[in-house]
Parts: sequence; structure tokens; C-alpha cells
Amino acid sequence: MRPLTDATPKPLLKAGGRAATIDELNVAEGWQRKGVGRALLARVVERAKVLTVKRLQVETYGAPSPGVTAFFQACGFSLCDVGLFRLR
Ligand SMILES: CC(C)(COP(=O)(O)OP(=O)(O)OC[C@H]1O[C@@H](n2cnc3c(N)ncnc32)[C@H](O)[C@@H]1OP(=O)(O)O)[C@@H](O)C(=O)NCCC(=O)NCCS
Repeated sequence: MRPLTDATPKPLLKAGGRAATIDELNVAEGWQRKGVGRALLARVVERAKVLTVKRLQVETYGAPSPGVTAFFQACGFSLCDVGLFRLR
């Protein structure tokens, strides 16, 4: 298993808190569809709350595949721009 997440918190003055962007979320192919991605994302969301992050988003760098879109939607994110999902 080679899960990898990376989130960068930054100040977000307008929202009165921080914004964080997950630069990459990867689950090794043989481990996909076993709940690993959902568990990793839940940990990031938990950590973001502790860090008073008001806006958490994920960059997919280009149009996401239907599978990636389904994944982020299942985890509470909405597509708000091309290649950008934001936690609802
Ligand atoms: C996207 C990714 C992180 C998802 O991780 P995962 O561990 O496979 O996802 P989970 O098993 O936690 O899936 C949670 C839910 O998301 C949805 N989902 C996940 N992958 C899906 C797919 N390919 N098609 C449809 N729904 C999907 C399902 O509702 C799933 O729940 P279920 O399996 O009980 O039906 C993983 O597929 C991956 O690393 N892909 C390659 C890299 C990538 O594109 N990363 C995203 C951009 S940074």
C-alpha cells in the first residue's frame, strides 16, 4: 500500500480562517475501492478542522475522470471549477 496525501494550509482572510488545498491524493491501484481513499480524506478533513480551515479543496489538474468525480462527491466534495473540488 502506498497512500499519499499532501495538504497545504494558507490564511484565508475573507473567510476568517485558513484555506487548504490537497495537492495530491493517491491510492495504489491494487488498494483502490477498499475505502482507503475515503479514510485518508476523512483524516485530512479532521485535521483541517483542528487547524480552523474554512475552505478545503482538492486540485485534480485537468478534468477529472467519472470515477474521481464519483469519489469526491461520495466524500462530500463538489466540483466547483475544472479540476477543483471543494468540501461542501
Ligand atoms: C481517487 C482515489 C483516491 C479514490 O480512492 P479509493 O481508495 O479507491 O476510494 P474509496 O474506496 O475510499 O471509495 C469511496 C467511495 O467513492 C466512490 N468511488 C471511488 N472510486 C470510484 C470509481 N472509480 N467509480 C465510481 N465511484 C467511485 C464510491 O462511492 C466509493 O464507495 P464504495 O466503494 O463503497 O462504492 C483513487 O482511485 C486514486 O488514487 N486514483 C488515482 C489518483 C487520482 O486520480 N487521484 C485524485 C486526484 S488528486
